Amino acid sequence: MDPYLLGLRLGGRRVVVVGGGGVASRRVPSLLDAGAEILLVSPKVTASLEDLAAAGRIRWEARGYQPGDCAGAWLVCACTDDPGVNAAVAAAAEAQRTWSVRADDAGASAAWTPASGRAGDVRVGVLSGDPRHSAAIRDAIVAGLRSGELSAAGRPGRYGGPGSPSVRGGVPGGRPPRAGTVAIIGGGPGDPGLITVRGWQLLAEADVVLTDRLAPRSLLDELRDDVKIIDAGKIPYGRAMAQEHINAALISHAQAGRFVARLKGGDPFVFGRGAEEVLACLRAGVPVTVVPGVTSAVGVPASAWIPVTHRGVAQEFHVVSVHVPPGDERSTVNWELLGGSSGTLVLLMAVERIGAVVHELMRYGRSPDTPVSVIADGTLPTQRTINSTLEQVESLVAKEGIRPPAIVVVGDVVTVAAEITELMRDVTA
Ligand SMILES: C[S@@+](CC[C@H](N)C(=O)[O-])C[C@H]1O[C@@H](n2cnc3c(N)ncnc32)[C@H](O)[C@@H]1O
Repeated sequence: MDPYLLGLRLGGRRVVVVGGGGVASRRVPSLLDAGAEILLVSPKVTASLEDLAAAGRIRWEARGYQPGDCAGAWLVCACTDDPGVNAAVAAAAEAQRTWSVRADDAGASAAWTPASGRAGDVRVGVLSGDPRHSAAIRDAIVAGLRSGELSAAGRPGRYGGPGSPSVRGGVPGGRPPRAGTVAIIGGGPGDPGLITVRGWQLLAEADVVLTDRLAPRSLLDELRDDVKIIDAGKIPYGRAMAQEHINAALISHAQAGRFVARLKGGDPFVFGRGAEEVLACLRAGVPVTVVPGVTSAVGVPASAWIPVTHRGVAQEFHVVSVHVPPGDERSTVNWELLGGSSGTLVLLMAVERIGAVVHELMRYGRSPDTPVSVIADGTLPTQRTINSTLEQVESLVAKEGIRPPAIVVVGDVVTVAAEITELMRDVTA
């Protein structure tokens, strides 16, 4: 007989899990996500389950199964490696009319756990009788939803084509759930693969997209043909005015009932004016959400094998915007502190002002020999890295014609990248 698929709402309801091995370690976190109150019965448990018990997130009885353990449970999971114990647990559950799942014997199990996945706010569950086949179908559906090929908004996806039935927000002809709202999305440092899953999902659902110069623009090519793309980098009137016009565009498109995605480079709140856009939307009464992104401050050094922290080398890192040089009255950076620190410095928008920066850091105590890397076009096919020292970097930047966008990393972590690159050469040779 066909199984009957249900979505269990387990908030505050007891689930008894018997067994503390690999299967329990996989099941317990998603039961917790569903709000279940978990009693775990097992003499031994994995480290991750032990951590959950120590944190008070589950109750762990460190002993073998005993009759009566299933009392009060809404669901029972029998996942020991002893079929006899699993059978006893399942029988006890059956006797009290509680659903149970046996991990060791699907044929003897009252309920089956579907291969499940998540894409945004959509939960997917697949049962096919063959767990591997179910998992493969689940993966295909989740990948389709995440890529936008299947539309989570219920609208025809980009392959829907003209004439596809349009079911907006689950209601034929109804309002899509995100209409009239804005999503501020961090697109990561440039490689289109570095946007987050949620960022891409929201982007794929947008009616209007406002992009920045440093956003991963190659993603735009994958959007539906009817999406209106506004290149915010081309809005005139200079920096401050441009921001006002961007805010106005976000608000007016949302107020016209569209779902607006603001695609930014890196993380929207790291020197990205994302919070200004959030505030402007809220002040205009427009609902807004933000999707964090991989900031270039960390992602670009990593793409050049530079860890911004490394045990025994750097215990702190400072991310600094050098859009105005040291000494400029608009600068709020404490260069004396940075010069005296031994932490890693990650400098953004610094290439054109590198001479003044170097001068200031050496003046306040950084050694002229301090290693420095400059990474331009990080994570893109055109990525370039130059390695130097504090004393030499200005002339090397000029000689090599390094242009923005670039990240300057100052500190001994640069030598770790050299070590990694050296070993990498041996491994790939
Ligand atoms: C206005 S800031 C925006 C930072 C962004 N919100 C983030 O979190 O990465 C622009 C600066 O970020 C750095 N940057 C952004 N993308 C980069 C990339 N792909 N390679 C090197 N530097 C990059 C450069 O220093 C550039 O001048």
